[in-house]
Amino acid sequence: MRESTHLTCIRCGKRFALADHVRGCDACAAQGVAANLTVGYDAPWPALRPEGLPRGPHSMWRYADLLHAPADAAVSLGEGLTPLLDMPRLGLGPLWFKDESRNPTWSFKDRLASAAVTMARRMGARVIACSSSGNAGAATAAYAARAGLPCVVLTTENAGGAMVTQMQAYGALLLKVPTSADRWTVLVEAVARHGWFPTTAYFGPVIGSSPLGIEGYKTIAYEIAEAMDWDVPEWCAVPACYGDSLYGIWKGFDDLRALGWTRRMPRLLAAEVSGSITGAMAEGGDVPPVRPLAAPSSAASIAAAQGTLQGLMALRASRGVSVHVPDEDILRWHARLGPAEGVYAEPASVATLPAIERLRADGTIAPHDRVVSLLTASGLKDNPVAERHLPPVPRTAPRLDAALATLKEHYGFDVA
Ligand SMILES: Cc1ncc(COP(=O)(O)O)c(C=O)c1O
Ligand SMILES: [Zn+2]
Repeated sequence: MRESTHLTCIRCGKRFALADHVRGCDACAAQGVAANLTVGYDAPWPALRPEGLPRGPHSMWRYADLLHAPADAAVSLGEGLTPLLDMPRLGLGPLWFKDESRNPTWSFKDRLASAAVTMARRMGARVIACSSSGNAGAATAAYAARAGLPCVVLTTENAGGAMVTQMQAYGALLLKVPTSADRWTVLVEAVARHGWFPTTAYFGPVIGSSPLGIEGYKTIAYEIAEAMDWDVPEWCAVPACYGDSLYGIWKGFDDLRALGWTRRMPRLLAAEVSGSITGAMAEGGDVPPVRPLAAPSSAASIAAAQGTLQGLMALRASRGVSVHVPDEDILRWHARLGPAEGVYAEPASVATLPAIERLRADGTIAPHDRVVSLLTASGLKDNPVAERHLPPVPRTAPRLDAALATLKEHYGFDVA
């Protein structure tokens, strides 16, 4: 572990105490810019070479020398160390999925929750809290349980499905309030009055999730680089909402360059459903515009109306690109991925595919460029989207000749 004695503002560099992890930068806020903080290290880089990386523990904490807490203090369920799967049959050139659906609660948010709850326990927090109807809440609930800490999750009236079930199954204290904004009203007061430890975004204008959690996303970059023998891909694509993963992945690749383990920064590609970061990339400035969605998105996990400065900064620093993806393209790729490659992803996780398709077609991504795309969560997180678009299963009489006739009629499948 490197001694993480402080936090700094991602925009102006102002220094904060670790205890200030619950708010963004006040100096930037005074200028009308919502800026998150990030973990700062006073100690120099460890004298470590890639070949000297420890073999264990079997989790992202294997990279603890580059993180903010020692491995033996980690609140862990074995998160990270997920595979890179090549995707040769999608017609999108050299492409790999970093399959984060293999994580303990079946999404990449486990890295954020493990990193945040580890620090919460070290800092003596008594209550973990978050505002979520989805993967962040499921992950936070699991890691709080693992730490033996109560977890309060604020969610909304219309929340439901697998991820809410997960939160309850992990013993979280779930509360429904009328609107998304109401969740934040409650949490702002609870954090201020009772010192609850927030893992997610919980006030506006939005800065993103806990910087102590985002630090965990650096390990995505470390794992990609190590799997590719420290020759990083030309592009790294991410479905983006609050840009936590964009920032964490950028910071991880930046670490590796600073250590001299890699030579380049991959260009980041953000796939968005609101168009907020995409707008800010085109228009400049440090405040991504609010872009309310015209209709509910099939990629509900990334459907917030406003992106963050941290996502924007990661894109700019990596010469990245943001693409606003229409809903029908997400559904088209969602339907295609399973049969083509045997991978069932949450709809939000395939938002990168139409973005890659577009940038390959217009030449922004060169034919030989390698792309690693973050498959953020399992398809089982949101079965109803798939169910809406899949046909009913045909019935057949329980005889082989009838079964073969139905296979031919329904699927066009001929055994001969
Ligand atoms: C499945 C999935 N993909 C992508 C994201 C985007 O996360 P980020 O806030 O890191 O941009 C989320 C989170 O909200 C998610 O649940
Ligand atoms: Zn600042």
